[in-house]
Amino acid sequence: MSEEKEVETTGHQWDDDEGYPLKEYNNPLPRWWLYSFYGTIVWAVIYWIFYPAWPLVTDYTRGLLGWSMHRQLDEELAQARALQKPLNDRLEKMGLAEITHDPSMLQYAVAGGKSIFGDNCAPCHGNGGTGSRSGGFPVLVDDDWLISGTIEGIADTITHGHVAMMPAHQKEYGGSFDAKQVDDLTQFVLFLSGQGSNKEAQARGAALFKGEAGCRNCHGDLGKGSAKDTLDGAPMEKSIGAPNLTDAIWLYGGDEATVRQSIAKGRSGRMPAWGPGSEGTNHKLTPLAIKQVAVYVHSLGGGQ
Ligand code: HEC
Ligand code: HEC
Repeated sequence: MSEEKEVETTGHQWDDDEGYPLKEYNNPLPRWWLYSFYGTIVWAVIYWIFYPAWPLVTDYTRGLLGWSMHRQLDEELAQARALQKPLNDRLEKMGLAEITHDPSMLQYAVAGGKSIFGDNCAPCHGNGGTGSRSGGFPVLVDDDWLISGTIEGIADTITHGHVAMMPAHQKEYGGSFDAKQVDDLTQFVLFLSGQGSNKEAQARGAALFKGEAGCRNCHGDLGKGSAKDTLDGAPMEKSIGAPNLTDAIWLYGGDEATVRQSIAKGRSGRMPAWGPGSEGTNHKLTPLAIKQVAVYVHSLGGGQ
């Protein structure tokens, strides 16, 4: 006990009943702690003077520097826009084909187009244009085109949209053929894509397809679709957008039941129009955005 060094006390002391008074020691805080503490107070006051700090009833103290997160964001966005402006101006003046021949502009347009696609087109066409199997939304990464796979054709489809007109053929649904004839047509479509084996039904279906039912007027002499096929040897009207029935790529499905349903009830896939001033859409894209997204779609692999 005697080696205990003298400790500073506050002078306050409690009663000692058993000869050991309870004293209140005064242990000073370590210097470094104390000075850091004062430092934080000084820093708080400086911060308060220069930066937004205290809430007031309807406003807040704004600080001498006038800094705000919103302003910082606005400035950063303005900087980004200023950097993009010369590129966008160039892109605006370039023709679509010209862009595909300029590697750096192509890269810029594809990057912009990809994000436009993600925001507007992916809900129907799937991420990266891989399509959605059942809804009649075409895959955009293959070289099978309903309307056109040229870069100009793609830009045109995006600008004006496209409504498919595949009429109903069975009487119950407004067509002019009975169920048996629809069965025959179904067998012929299955034959076109290398399926089915009922030769007689296929032959009857083929006659209807080429004659009375008028399928060939839209799907072409060989059923290869309006984008590729011919009608009596002449190229077809591309805007029909009738699909190739001879490949294994289907909008709705190539199994017997689905093909039959397409023929019996008809189909009317609808691609919205995106160009300014076009009717039937509330998502308008600027001509520049359409250019970028057309370049992107064309770059996906199947562009012609
Ligand atoms: C509401 C769903 C929907 C949205 C959104 C949509 N599309 Fe489509 N798109 C379709 C459908 C359905 C078709 C097929 C139309 C037809 O059969 O005539 C189509 C067809 C197309 C075609 C023609 C393909 C071909 O084979 O000729 C292109 C190109 C295309 N879309 C690009 C786009 C782009 C780019 C966007 C975004 C700006 C977009 N689509 C947004 C539904 C959509
Ligand atoms: C007026 C033009 C037109 C006529 C006539 C027509 N089609 Fe179509 N057909 C289309 C179009 C356009 C589509 C694409 C529908 C869509 O995108 O929603 C289509 C789609 C189809 C499909 C679905 C293909 C798929 O990929 O899922 C089948 C099957 C089909 N037609 C068969 C026929 C048969 C058989 C006939 C004759 C009985 C016929 N079509 C007559 C325009 C036509």
